[in-house]
Amino acid sequence: MDFKLTEEQQMIKQAARDFAQNECLPGVIERDDLQQFPAEQIKKMGELGFMGMMVDPKYGGSGMDTLSYVLAMEEISKIDASCSVAMSVNNSLVCWGLETYGNEEQKEKYLKPLASGEKLGAFCLSEPEAGSDATSQRTTAEDKGDYYLLNGTKNWITNGNSADIYLVVAQTDTEKKHHGINVFIVEKGMEGFVVGKKEDKLGIRGSDTHSLMFTDVKVPKENRIGEDGFGFKFAMKTLSGGRIGIAAQALGIAAGAYELALKYAQERKAFGKEIIQHQAIAFKLADMHTEIEAARMLVYRAAMDKDNHENYDLSGAMAKLKASQVAMETTVEAVQIHGGYGYVKEYHVERLMRDAKITQIYEGTSEIQKIVISRAISR
Ligand code: CAA
Repeated sequence: MDFKLTEEQQMIKQAARDFAQNECLPGVIERDDLQQFPAEQIKKMGELGFMGMMVDPKYGGSGMDTLSYVLAMEEISKIDASCSVAMSVNNSLVCWGLETYGNEEQKEKYLKPLASGEKLGAFCLSEPEAGSDATSQRTTAEDKGDYYLLNGTKNWITNGNSADIYLVVAQTDTEKKHHGINVFIVEKGMEGFVVGKKEDKLGIRGSDTHSLMFTDVKVPKENRIGEDGFGFKFAMKTLSGGRIGIAAQALGIAAGAYELALKYAQERKAFGKEIIQHQAIAFKLADMHTEIEAARMLVYRAAMDKDNHENYDLSGAMAKLKASQVAMETTVEAVQIHGGYGYVKEYHVERLMRDAKITQIYEGTSEIQKIVISRAISR
């Protein structure tokens, strides 16, 4: 495996790093505190081509590879995981799903504004009673001829209020179980579609997470993606790629916390010397560095599998499992190295620790990744 980055990939990484430092860092503590969606940052990310990174330029995207996307996700996540989750959902789930499985009309109408960052997307699979058990969809879409009548509730939807275009998973034929599931493109403002409660979260507090209610929403037939009954496969395939994006987010959170802890340990003095000179701290940093590097290899490997058109279900799940675990462990240690300063907001590491937790939960919990991995290795 050759992880030597091309000149273009290095430029993208640097551009994302500069953007995160200059545009995401200012105000990140306040946005977290006030649960304020980073609307300005997301708009600028769209202008810079970060919202449709892998989409063909003919549909408004940047036409880059998955590794470049992962590098940008990593850099932005070092500073603000609330920005990077909006970016991840738009890129990996919504744009990728539409570009791969949408028809030409759907791509023209919906993918173009999403990939260019003019509009924002949301992916709506989870329900009050269907989180990990994604086949148990209660939202229904009844075939009425020219349109489907959509009814149900979705929970914990990222970009829930800020999105313009929603990919909604619904059951069209309960008898057929997961073969009777479809995905529909729903626009904000469609009659009967209401954005519900905003979740008050532990981390990624700038990201707006909402429940959504659909009551007799008339969704035009042409808004169904793919063949009838393709919805569950659509969701699974899309989530497989999404997991690479979240793995990159977890990697970025870990690396961000590590960079802060290293700098602090080089500057802070105790017992007459910089704390990095104390083995107790130096060993923590050595472990953090090693674990982050191990996670990075899995994340880049999964991205390369996708770019090389190899199966990435297994490598994506392994990358997410490992990187999210490393994010959690590294951020806890970063707080510890900072001592009392780590426990206050000004030093950023407590936020990164809170943000890290979600990477073990969304787009499939760690336990779900283990299901995917164990099934793949026992085949
Ligand atoms: N690619 C293609 N098809 C797949 C697939 C994949 N990766 N994984 C499963 N399938 C297909 C299977 O082939 C099967 O199809 P057939 O019956 O035609 O053979 C069908 O899907 C059902 O598969 P399983 O029997 O394996 O299904 P299962 O009920 O055992 O569930 C699971 C598998 C992996 C646990 C799945 O339910 C899952 O991934 N759950 C987690 C859901 C999840 O990640 N939710 C996150 C919400 S979105 C989010 O978090 C976004 C955000 O806001 C940031």
